[in-house]
Amino acid sequence: MRLGLKARKRANTKEKSSAIRQSLGHKSVVLIGLMGAGKTAIGRRLANRLGLSFTDADNEIERAAGQSISDIFAEYGEAHFREGERKVIARLLNGGPQVLATGGGAYMNETTRKNVARKGISVWLKADLDVLLERVGRRDNRPLLKRADPEQVMRKLIDERYPVYAKADITVHSRNVAHETIVGEIMDALQRALTDRRPVRRS
Ligand code: S3P
Repeated sequence: MRLGLKARKRANTKEKSSAIRQSLGHKSVVLIGLMGAGKTAIGRRLANRLGLSFTDADNEIERAAGQSISDIFAEYGEAHFREGERKVIARLLNGGPQVLATGGGAYMNETTRKNVARKGISVWLKADLDVLLERVGRRDNRPLLKRADPEQVMRKLIDERYPVYAKADITVHSRNVAHETIVGEIMDALQRALTDRRPVRRS
């Protein structure tokens, strides 16, 4: 019996998901990128497509600390937050396979980068400044953007962080298209990267 187009697409997706899951073993798919890049929104959908659990490192940090990230910054300062972030991500990376979204500054820590390289495959959601600004403008839960002009802060973070984010195994251009489109591009890149470890770029 011949399958219709939709059924064939579904079968393809299922096959791709299971091939990726199998190649991942216990590794996590780790999403990195600046605030507003879509790590949480896309991460949830990617996890769903892959049939894996989704973990948001920022939520886990808040849970471990019993307070919000804004309150941690205000009460103890950024260095304290970074220390907690490093520890929580190291712990979470032992819980793979999963899709793990990390806060924008996490991958800047060398130990975290090493842990991610050992226990995961990293995906940089690379977004342009205007897209990031439009998205972060919708919420005021980010302490780094409360201190000064958000555009200036974001420009500086792009200069500092993009060369480091570029070390990720996979780069996907996050932009204003349907989340499912980006998820599809990540799936294709994961499939390629997991069978051929050379970096995959999509920017
Ligand atoms: C930060 C990004 C935030 C959060 C904290 C610091 C950063 O996470 O971890 O406010 O340094 O870029 P998101 O990238 O999920 O917004």
